Amino acid sequence: MSIVNAKDIMVEAAKGKYAIGAFNVTSIHQMEAVVEAAVEKKSPLIIQTSVKPSKVLGREVFVAVYRTLAESAPIPICLHLDHCTEVDYCKKCADAGYTNIMIDASKQTCEENIRQTKEVVDYCHSLGDISVEGELGTVSGVEDQIKVAEDEAALANPEQSVEFVERTGLDIFAPAIGTAHGVYKTKNPKIDFERLGKINMMLNGNGVKVPLVVHGGTGLPEDYIQKLIEMGGAKFNVSTELKHTLIDATWDYLSTHREEYDPGKIDAAVRDATRKAVSHWIDMLCSAGKA
Ligand code: 13P
Repeated sequence: MSIVNAKDIMVEAAKGKYAIGAFNVTSIHQMEAVVEAAVEKKSPLIIQTSVKPSKVLGREVFVAVYRTLAESAPIPICLHLDHCTEVDYCKKCADAGYTNIMIDASKQTCEENIRQTKEVVDYCHSLGDISVEGELGTVSGVEDQIKVAEDEAALANPEQSVEFVERTGLDIFAPAIGTAHGVYKTKNPKIDFERLGKINMMLNGNGVKVPLVVHGGTGLPEDYIQKLIEMGGAKFNVSTELKHTLIDATWDYLSTHREEYDPGKIDAAVRDATRKAVSHWIDMLCSAGKA
């Protein structure tokens, strides 16, 4: 079966010391390219949409394309809703057929974060096989409708992380560890690897129960990625890189074919560039051949 939730494939990844790429898309061409790359590499895959694109194109449209692609692909694929701050919209996307939902109440007080996250967990579990991601602490930078200034970002406290996971019944957990959305301002961003390792030990030391998510994939140095996988990172979110890939590929194509007026060729250029970017991530995450 190629339609899966995120938790099941992430548990396998965490056990096998590799990670699954979770790629944010805004268009159907990107979705196809991401799937093509994962099929070529025989890798499990998570496709993500932020809230804005899912409202613009329509959650049902994303789900229909996802199901069409996933049902004929020989690899497990999850469709994830990324950083949703509205409980009601999380429920609507679960109803529509997303197979992993991220409720992001990380800007609320811890108690309110627990309350909202638990409400989404209870709802998704009552529907069936839908897993839920929650976040504690805050990731700096801009992702869709969420903006967090660098000096506002707070790392996840390990003891509080255990309480958060236990009280919400969460399936997969994104602790803030210093990674950031967008392009890193320095070549060596300050990431708290040990914090991720400690949280992983406390949650998953006696067998993987709640696999961990690393946000802010774009621009992470390759040796950081390996170290984050060792520390328990089982899902890496990549958004900005694919946005840049789409815009740069479009720009490059148009700059050299300004008189052509053939949209299909622009789409092909975007697909090709996206497929290459995703293949590179799959290699870095060591998930090739794991489907
Ligand atoms: P980047 O935009 O830095 O790749 O981060 C993506 C992300 O974490 C989405 O949730």
